[in-house]
Amino acid sequence: AVTACGSGGSPAADDGTITLGFSQVGAESGWRTANTESIQQAAEDAGIDLQFSDAQQKQENQIRAIPSFIQQNVDVIAFSPVVETGWDAVLLEAQRADIPVVLTDRAIDSDDDTLYEAFLGSDFVEEGRKAGEWLVDNAEGQTNVVELQGTTGAAPAIDRQEGFAEVIADHPDIEVIATQTGDFTRSGGKEVMEAFLRSHDDIDVVYAHNDDMGLGAIEAIRAAGLEPGEDIRIITVDAVRAGMEALAEGDINFIVECNPLLGEQLMELVEQVAAGEEVPKRIEVEETTFTQEEAEAALPDRQY
Ligand code: AHR
Repeated sequence: AVTACGSGGSPAADDGTITLGFSQVGAESGWRTANTESIQQAAEDAGIDLQFSDAQQKQENQIRAIPSFIQQNVDVIAFSPVVETGWDAVLLEAQRADIPVVLTDRAIDSDDDTLYEAFLGSDFVEEGRKAGEWLVDNAEGQTNVVELQGTTGAAPAIDRQEGFAEVIADHPDIEVIATQTGDFTRSGGKEVMEAFLRSHDDIDVVYAHNDDMGLGAIEAIRAAGLEPGEDIRIITVDAVRAGMEALAEGDINFIVECNPLLGEQLMELVEQVAAGEEVPKRIEVEETTFTQEEAEAALPDRQY
């Protein structure tokens, strides 16, 4: 369903108001909720008429939303692609209709980079590397890792796996003994971790591609009579409030930040492309990492 917010103007209003059609992945995680709020707030602040569509983690819903934005004759289309591939045909439709497209949060895998104006988001490979580097610095002898992957085919799942694997490749005592998708959800992380615990009694570390799956894994580890953060160490990505609290409490050992507060920069980009201005093809946001002590210090000022 497409819902309007922002200035409240009708789609493609003629009064100079920019209409932005935005297709969001879904509401699968704390990160996603913070990202949606940031985009909605920034659109309102900028006086941009936001036509918001929730894809409920299904690519086919985004492939339906984009032509519907074209039909409404929006000024700009932005979307966070559920998966990396399969976008060329629908983006060609937008190009033929002369509607600029901005990718946000997740990139696409296409040979044709004229299909979109710009990408705004994170370097997910680097996030995976940071997770791997912490483990290399903190591993104690033979270390068996289980990996909770994000949504199959999604850029952050592919890239976070790649960056982590690249760093541990030179360390044969660190071994990924099992890897499976938990779809970036808490329930998915819990279910997969339960299965991992049933089939492996030698797990030292969980590498979860987001906080929500890590939080699900904590529940499974406790239910198995083990202490998260001690018997099994946990590394996650995102640094949303619930993850940071678990880190400060000692249940998680390290978090790599992924910044969801993209709204303001996205609206600036939208205004620029709507005005026909040249914009950089790739804009990456700044991100950090958190140890348990750093999480405790950062929590009072954490916005999400
Ligand atoms: O694309 C960003 C990822 O998607 C976040 O890490 C995750 O929590 C979300 O679902």
